[in-house]
Amino acid sequence: MPIHVMFVCLGNICRSPMAEAVFLAQVRDAGLEGQITADSCGTAGWHAGEAPHPGTQRVLQAHGIPFEHRARQLRTDDLAADYLIAMDRDNLEGIRKLGKTDAETSLLLDFAPELGLRDMPDPYYTDRFEETYRQVDTACAKLLAHIRQREGWE
Ligand code: 4NP
Repeated sequence: MPIHVMFVCLGNICRSPMAEAVFLAQVRDAGLEGQITADSCGTAGWHAGEAPHPGTQRVLQAHGIPFEHRARQLRTDDLAADYLIAMDRDNLEGIRKLGKTDAETSLLLDFAPELGLRDMPDPYYTDRFEETYRQVDTACAKLLAHIRQREGWE
C-alpha cells in the first residue's frame, strides 16, 4: 500500500489543492509515484464539486504543474490517511473534531520553520497566490524529505 498524504484547508479551493498538486509533482520528480499518493479536502463543504480557485489555477499553470481536483469536504474515512497535513490551526481543530486518527497530523508550515509562520495565510482573503505557492513549494519539499526519512527510503 502506498503512503497516503491528505492536505486539509478550509474551502479546498485555494491552499490544499495547491499543496496536493505541488507535492504530487515533487513525488513524480523524485520517482516515488508508486509509493506515495496525495489528495486534499476542506473542513467546510461550501465549494464541494468546484475546481480550484482561479488564483490557484493561475500559479499552478505558471509553474507548469498539472492539477486535477474537485473540492470536497473532509470526512471520517480521511482519518485513515498516513499523514494529515493542515494549512492552519483552525483546520487542525476541524480534523480533531471529526475523530481519532493514527495519522501523523501536522501543520504544513511546521516543516519549514525558516519561513517563520505556523498558519499559512489564506490567499482567498489576501489574493497573494504566488506567495502561497512559494510557501507550499518550500514546505512540501521538506515534508517529502521527512516522509522519505520516516519510511526509511533514504
Ligand atoms: P482555502 O481558502 O481554505 O485555502 O480553500 C478559502 C476558500 C473559500 C473560503 C474561505 C477560504 N470561503 O469562505 O468560501
